[in-house]
Amino acid sequence: MKLKVALLPGDGIGPEVIDEAVRILKTIGELCDHDFEFIEKLIGGVAIRDCGSPLPVETLDACFASDAVLLGAVGAPRYDDLPPDKRPEAGLLTLRRALGGYANLRPVVFYDALAPSSPLRPETARGADILIVRELLGGLYFSEPRGFVVEAGKQIAAYNTLRYETYEIERVAHIAFQAARQRRRKVTSVDKANVLETSQLWRETVTRVAASYPEVSLEHLYVDACAMRLVTHPQRFDVILTENLFGDILSDEAAVINGSLGTLASATIGGAIDLYEPVHGSAPDIAGRGIANPIGAIASAALMLRYTAHLEQEASDIETAIRQVLDAGYATPDLQSEATRCVVGTAEMGQLITEALAEI
Ligand code: NAI
Ligand code: MG
Repeated sequence: MKLKVALLPGDGIGPEVIDEAVRILKTIGELCDHDFEFIEKLIGGVAIRDCGSPLPVETLDACFASDAVLLGAVGAPRYDDLPPDKRPEAGLLTLRRALGGYANLRPVVFYDALAPSSPLRPETARGADILIVRELLGGLYFSEPRGFVVEAGKQIAAYNTLRYETYEIERVAHIAFQAARQRRRKVTSVDKANVLETSQLWRETVTRVAASYPEVSLEHLYVDACAMRLVTHPQRFDVILTENLFGDILSDEAAVINGSLGTLASATIGGAIDLYEPVHGSAPDIAGRGIANPIGAIASAALMLRYTAHLEQEASDIETAIRQVLDAGYATPDLQSEATRCVVGTAEMGQLITEALAEI
């Protein structure tokens, strides 16, 4: 198959980890005879330096001319004093809005090899494998009206609005059920329907969408109960579907199951062009030293194969290769624990995963 990918390595460790994701994609391309084409563009601090804008028009054009975008990270300390709309991070926010993805997918898996760095007991977390599907463009973060109430020059109140249109719930629910079909066929829809009208609409709408996926089971859970069960019984979840605010909070909570920021991947889909990026930032404290963990970026490339290219086998082969390398006791410094047998750098980790992949 043919896939055109816009690469936006960005700042700090972004280029280092994206190099390894590209290495894996090239290997998959050769092994499975796919035609992956890459076009690299600037975003973030490097784009400000070279073009005077954190998201040059040329970059945005290249994204829209591609099938998917693979992004590293943006942000650098030298820009931290600029106003928010001039900073590298503004480039990423503008890009996300322009691409229009409304579903943010974050897989969280428990790796036995990383158990020492997970705050959960291994017997609680072993086998946990969760996909969080978060609605990204609606709800409390975007609804109008919003603002401050000022009286006699003093802020006396502030308000936000939580509104969901039925179609916004439907489209993200379809993404969750389609994802569940490729997994363990269970969707947990999370809301607060005992208190909120938006959650009652959410629950009714998700239940209606579920009728189109008879092979997938659906349960509803209140967000407070979900927050607790994520850490007491993480193995019980497959796909968690939830609105913007709850998803923001629950996805960070779920991340602790995995125990390492450097291994987490994300996909933002449903818009004009799908966007894939590791969850971590540009990590200026370790940039340029060749020690960044590339697994989050590599796992993001796997998500791209799964959701944009529909290459499920290739995607799960990459995930298996990651697990095998970790199980063999290799770790980048951020993953190092008493279970580590050999500490490796960014490129070595990428090379090891590539070799494991070639053996599968
Ligand atoms: P960060 O995620 O860059 O780093 C947090 C800590 O985790 C650091 O100690 C870092 O060394 C470590 N870390 C992160 N990724 C790692 C990896 N792959 N391997 C090994 N260690 C890793 O978050 P921080 O420090 O809050 O932000 C740094 C810069 O990144 C800021 O300019 C921030 O605005 C930006 N940022 C960008 C994001 C993006 O592009 N999506 C997301 C988060 C932050
Ligand atoms: Mg957050």
